[in-house]
Amino acid sequence: MVNWVIRWTMILQRLPFHARINSIRYALSAVRSKWKERMKRIAIYPGSFDPVTNGHIDIVLRGTTLFDEIIVAILHNPSKSALFRVDERMGMLKETMKDIKGVSFDTFNGLLVDYAQKRGAQAILRGMRAVSDFEYEFQLALMNRKLNRDIQTVFLMTGLRWIFTSSSIIKEAAQFGGDISDMVPPIVHQKIMEKFNLKNN
Ligand code: PNS
Repeated sequence: MVNWVIRWTMILQRLPFHARINSIRYALSAVRSKWKERMKRIAIYPGSFDPVTNGHIDIVLRGTTLFDEIIVAILHNPSKSALFRVDERMGMLKETMKDIKGVSFDTFNGLLVDYAQKRGAQAILRGMRAVSDFEYEFQLALMNRKLNRDIQTVFLMTGLRWIFTSSSIIKEAAQFGGDISDMVPPIVHQKIMEKFNLKNN
């Protein structure tokens, strides 16, 4: 670092005045943007998202008030059976959250904390619905903390409107003709209906 500064100072001395000023400006803005990038508060919002529900969207929306960037990451787990393929789930996530600023999308496999570290995230964001979620979420958070103490799990309580909304309950209700239209965005409703060969009325 010291060598680099000395060499840079020597080069600067040989430059005309205006070029010197421009070089200093350029270096300062590079340092500033690197620093800004480092200071960015990034959270991973992981899940199966099979499919995305209004409850998920609510958590992301509220999460954007806490973090500069939220990476919505689908766990790519070929051994777990899902209704929608990963690319279908990704398409629905992108479509339903396209107007939310500071959100990006990805898939991951392996350990969540390793993925979070690779993406430079400081936190894992999870929604908590009811007491029934608590035990699993508590175990997950503690295991993740044991694996990597630098990454914090942040829970947001699900909005009261979405307290009964879960991807699996929605799929089950829809399969037997239950009305789930107010629990998922219209495009997701449409896709579920298509999957189960149901009429959308
Ligand atoms: O939407 P889900 O199915 O409740 O999400 C679960 C998810 C993806 C968050 C969890 O299964 C996960 O993080 N899996 C990756 C493997 C991992 O790191 N597990 C936790 C420590 S064993």
